[in-house]
Amino acid sequence: MTKDNRNRAWYGKNDRDGFIHRSWMKNQGFPDHVFDGRPIIGICNTWSELTPCNSGLRDLAEGVKRGVWEAGGFPVEFPVMSLGETQMKPTAMLFRNLLAMDVEESIRAYGIDGVVLLGGCDKTTPGQLMGAASVDLPTIVVSSGPMLNGKWKGKDIGSGTDVWKFSEAVRAGEMTLQDFMNAESGMSRSKGVCMTMGTASTMASLVEAMGMSLPTNAALPAVDSRRMALAHLTGKRIVEMVEEDLKLSHVVTREALENAILANAAVGGSTNSVVHLLAIAGRVGIDLSLDDFEIGSDIPLLVNCMPSGEYLMEDFCYAGGMPVVLSELKDKLRPATTVMGGDISAYWDGAECYNHDVIRPMDNPLKEAAGLCVLRGNLAPHGAIIKPSAATDALLEHEAEAFVFENIEDMKANIDREDLPVTADTILVLKGCGPKGYPGMPEVGNMPIPARLVKEGVRDMVRVSDARMSGTAYGTVVLHVSPEANAGGNLALVQTGDRIRVSIKDGALDLLVPDEELAQRRAEWTPEPPHYTRGYAKMYVDTVLQAHQGADLDFLVGKDTRPVTRESH
Ligand code: FES
Ligand code: MG
Repeated sequence: MTKDNRNRAWYGKNDRDGFIHRSWMKNQGFPDHVFDGRPIIGICNTWSELTPCNSGLRDLAEGVKRGVWEAGGFPVEFPVMSLGETQMKPTAMLFRNLLAMDVEESIRAYGIDGVVLLGGCDKTTPGQLMGAASVDLPTIVVSSGPMLNGKWKGKDIGSGTDVWKFSEAVRAGEMTLQDFMNAESGMSRSKGVCMTMGTASTMASLVEAMGMSLPTNAALPAVDSRRMALAHLTGKRIVEMVEEDLKLSHVVTREALENAILANAAVGGSTNSVVHLLAIAGRVGIDLSLDDFEIGSDIPLLVNCMPSGEYLMEDFCYAGGMPVVLSELKDKLRPATTVMGGDISAYWDGAECYNHDVIRPMDNPLKEAAGLCVLRGNLAPHGAIIKPSAATDALLEHEAEAFVFENIEDMKANIDREDLPVTADTILVLKGCGPKGYPGMPEVGNMPIPARLVKEGVRDMVRVSDARMSGTAYGTVVLHVSPEANAGGNLALVQTGDRIRVSIKDGALDLLVPDEELAQRRAEWTPEPPHYTRGYAKMYVDTVLQAHQGADLDFLVGKDTRPVTRESH
């Protein structure tokens, strides 16, 4: 066993500082020998009752501890900020970078040698990976795992996806408000993350594809006893990783990030993965850009889960989960080191598909070419994205007049006006929802279809904004327009009646207004005053990067792996 672990700078000294570090830890009943130099494993826990998706993580932490003890390590669990996607206002995304700071500084300041990241809900996984990447210790992930399939009136219903469907049905007069409210209890029946292929399950799937968790981590239901066993095995493995000095940066490489992009296409993953992967890459020091996402564009959609398909995560698990997807992609994936120490190919060893409708083979996909599509043009010089697999094919080449909402309040106040001058062809534009604007780039890009059109049976329209959308959402929605309106992007200059052209084929997002006219409008444009003038939110607004750069804070990009030498007393 290695005795020169990082923790020796805390617990290996026989002076006053060593006394202080050890003595106070001993108040929890730890005997002398746990400070003998064995790997000390931090269990970084985002458990919280306000993050229901992560409410099972206390149990999983116990599983991790069993494994760490068994392998001869010393586990210590610590809490970090938790981000409850469905509970926080104005949006959990505003706080992703704050969680990342918490994780980074906690890992660096404490005498630990390796880290197990316990996360699940949308922003917790990327926030933890970003923070851990900036310290770069041996690191491994255990995810919450998805909730059991939603059940209501004898049918499976999916987190998020069916909320959007049901609320449109209520507005169309096709569902009663009572039924709508009754569905709440059936949708969320167990601990765990959204059981659609939303952002949480997407990020867990990409973590597995990057080799940052043990195989099967993404899909095992939160309450499946095999997840507890996986936590135990992860605890064992992190001790070995410390002994092998297998750091996060050995696993999160350009190849691993490219594998994540490829896997994202195959699982029909969330558009949010784009900002998260860009931010993670920035921390590790890999120059990933929106253009790199093009490698996913010809990957077919294999996983038949909502919102792009019809099944849910439990079905995905029982069909074989990510090992089967990776096996299908094996000719496309890059060789890459994983937390297991070997190549990613070990992840599909023995993988077998038990339901070919849930996980399609490459030669019978749900959709050809399912990757996210990057759009550029004078409306988004730095790019925008769209998820064709969740869009309406007929709207993927579209030119029409815009109807503009200046901000979220404008949209909410007017979208259901009976006299709203829009047709099914109109392109709805929403401003003021980017990283600086809202602030925090909320999931409002899939703005509702105007009530009058819903009643006429319209279920999709082209929508354009600087916002994100929930990974559980669907529709022909152009997102992440960069630069955002509040950063002075041309999006700020769009007026109702302007023509906009969206072309997936050409990767184009054009505002068909002459340059002279735009210059004139720009001269008259004044930015909205910021919504926050103090505290973290002010720091966020002042320093946040645009969506195409991952929306990290500018001073957090990169890492600092120097030892901390100064003592507290
Ligand atoms: Fe937490 Fe969906 S809201 S995972
Ligand atoms: Mg979300």
